[in-house]
Amino acid sequence: MPVRRPAPGDLEPIETASRDEITALQLTRLRASLQHAYDQVPHTRAKFDAAGVQPQDCRSLSDLARFPFSSKADLRDNYPFGLLAVPRQQLARIHASSGTTGKPTVVGYTQADIEVWADLVARSIRAAGGRRGDMVHVAYGYGLFTGGLGAHYGAERLGCTVVPMGGGQTEKQVQLIVDFKPDIIMVTPSYMQVLIEEFRRQGLDPRQMSVQVGIFGAEPWTEAMRREIETSADIAAVDIYGLSEVMGPGVACECIESRDGPVIWEDHFYPEIIDPESGAVLPDGAEGELVFTTLTKQALPMVRYRTRDLTRLLPPTSRSFRRMGKIVGRSDDMLIIRGVNVFPTQIEEIVLQADKLAGQYQIVVSRDGALDQVVVRTELNVANADAPQAERDAVGLWLAQRIKTLVGISTRIEVLPPGAIERTLVGKARRVVDQRPR
Ligand code: DLL
Repeated sequence: MPVRRPAPGDLEPIETASRDEITALQLTRLRASLQHAYDQVPHTRAKFDAAGVQPQDCRSLSDLARFPFSSKADLRDNYPFGLLAVPRQQLARIHASSGTTGKPTVVGYTQADIEVWADLVARSIRAAGGRRGDMVHVAYGYGLFTGGLGAHYGAERLGCTVVPMGGGQTEKQVQLIVDFKPDIIMVTPSYMQVLIEEFRRQGLDPRQMSVQVGIFGAEPWTEAMRREIETSADIAAVDIYGLSEVMGPGVACECIESRDGPVIWEDHFYPEIIDPESGAVLPDGAEGELVFTTLTKQALPMVRYRTRDLTRLLPPTSRSFRRMGKIVGRSDDMLIIRGVNVFPTQIEEIVLQADKLAGQYQIVVSRDGALDQVVVRTELNVANADAPQAERDAVGLWLAQRIKTLVGISTRIEVLPPGAIERTLVGKARRVVDQRPR
């Protein structure tokens, strides 16, 4: 598959600006954004006052470290509209993310916010090799989730033909891909695996599909998963990152030519990596929790928002902005099994090495007396759907041994038929089911 590179003249000047130009722009925008939040959001003003800082105390980018963090709790405590920095009547749109417990997290956008968002998703699709006239099949869920509409507006902004398919209806997805022949697909990586399996189930070769580029995000996925998808579908798999609280998809996106970690659109979002325990800012290259401050958002400016996502900041390569490493996991997804720290992504890498398995998996943790019990649920791929019990047992045994050796925990493996593991409608896989008493 040839790599589609954007022509140099296609890039915005800031994408190739010098570091000095970028930091100057960031500081100007940061100061204005802190002032905006302080003036318009009573909750933020109270937090700044309690921490003894004023917006004008931010004289350099490193001064941001003196300002208080924000988190999902701030949004929850001010549900639904308490953190808005503009009157509700000025919102053009509302999105919400389904919290695991209780009320959803509500976010709002002015028309200007929607424009910036569309521009940044357009920039992301261009970085991924997309161009005007391409057909983009959007299989992220539409609705309150930011994935579908975020991708949709960005693709339209770039001048693409959008197929607003949304999540679910797997058979129909494959039919439309076969009939319409899109150039690009935007979908969660786990749902892309489901689509690939559906191609095979229908007797079609997924490598023959018209799609050249997949723009995958909304959930952690590993380099092993990238290789698996790229070979099975003969496409380039590009990582797009984002979160509702900060904007939605398109906070960062990989460039197709390097595929070396999402480039953070630093002209709109200021990233920091902190030690999740102490809150101290860590140097570039060190792994920790990703924190974002929005630089241009009107409706919902976020100051030092703790994403819970664990990664590193990396030096610029294909653009002048810094990159982030692939997300290792969310700090709240990290399992502690009999004292061993385990991320679902570690299990994923191993599951993907088993050639009879589909790459879907779910980790179910329960407690038996004082001991944690872990079951890893896996699925056979379509080609091996009828594998005899002895072969399934052999796959299970092999997997349990690999996990024991590489991750250090004992597991029981279930090898299930294709499609047995639940799929969510927005296509984000549920990797962990923790049944232990709290
Ligand atoms: O998932 C926004 C999005 C939609 C991003 C479509 C990319 C594509 P939320 O539902 O608020 O927003 O979930 C945000 O998803 O904090 C990460 O934990 C995870 N996440 C998003 N993108 C990636 C990625 C959307 N590329 C949460 N790699 C974030 C790993 C990701 N995790």
